[in-house]
Amino acid sequence: MNIGFVGTGAIAEAVIHGLCTCAEPPQSVVVSPRSTERSRRLAGLYGCLTVADSNQAVADRSDWTFITVTPDIAGTVLEALCFRPEQNVVNCVSTLTFDRARALVGPDVNLFKAVPLPPIAKGRGPVAYCPFNDGLEQMFGQIGTPVAANDEAELRALAAVTSQIAAFHMYQAEVQNWLERRNIPSDRAQAYVSSMFYALSSQSVATDAPSFEDLGKEAFTPGGLNAQAMSFLRQEDWFSRTAVSLDGILTRLNET
Ligand SMILES: NC(=O)c1ccc[n+]([C@@H]2O[C@H](COP(=O)([O-])OP(=O)(O)OC[C@H]3O[C@@H](n4cnc5c(N)ncnc54)[C@H](OP(=O)(O)O)[C@@H]3O)[C@@H](O)[C@H]2O)c1
Repeated sequence: MNIGFVGTGAIAEAVIHGLCTCAEPPQSVVVSPRSTERSRRLAGLYGCLTVADSNQAVADRSDWTFITVTPDIAGTVLEALCFRPEQNVVNCVSTLTFDRARALVGPDVNLFKAVPLPPIAKGRGPVAYCPFNDGLEQMFGQIGTPVAANDEAELRALAAVTSQIAAFHMYQAEVQNWLERRNIPSDRAQAYVSSMFYALSSQSVATDAPSFEDLGKEAFTPGGLNAQAMSFLRQEDWFSRTAVSLDGILTRLNET
């Protein structure tokens, strides 16, 4: 498999680390010029990676071409590229809609849209994409959890959920800070909180895992500590506010 990246920024780097360290790395990876420090570093790490002298050379030398430039220039960059018929192009630009990308790449290209996330660098995390494709299932399955959306509306809903990442970490920080205010040293507080959240989330990833609701109920003893915390958070509308926040994100994504 020959993979190319037009745009060698943070998310391209994460996908490259994931792919180049997985069980079956690609035959070749070619990245666009610019971000020279990053691409030089990546070429030093991975023998299969080369830096092309133009964006077009990336398209010419790849079977799977990832578009990983920022939204402001994505249209101009794509418009200038020529692709072979049935070449696979994976649009990772959050605000570049499927229809707009299709208009830019032409009707003969196999066009996909994907939402990789930074933890993919370490072979973890979901990759929402559409439409379903065996090659992408296999590629993303080696470096994370592919979740194929049926259409762009579904993909946008999955993408909206990525807005919860900062909130998740800030919640962890809040719990850690609370421990520190009770004189637990920062390193021990962080180790405790990260290990607890890691263990809890790892319980839910197996294919036969109980639902989140069931996991919640298992942790809930009537009159117990979790029951007290849940009751307080429900009274404060803590859970329903999450859905309101997601609605706002989805509205914004739908407007772009
Ligand atoms: N970061 C994420 O977690 C994430 C997740 C999912 C999707 N995305 C999407 O991925 C895209 C890239 O995000 P990012 O965070 O990786 O951005 P980034 O770190 O700013 O990377 C953008 C890259 O594009 C390069 N570039 C600029 N103009 C170019 C041109 N004309 N031709 C070729 N390359 C050019 C930049 O080079 P210079 O440094 O030399 O300017 C840089 O290497 C965005 O559209 C974003 O929506 C990001």
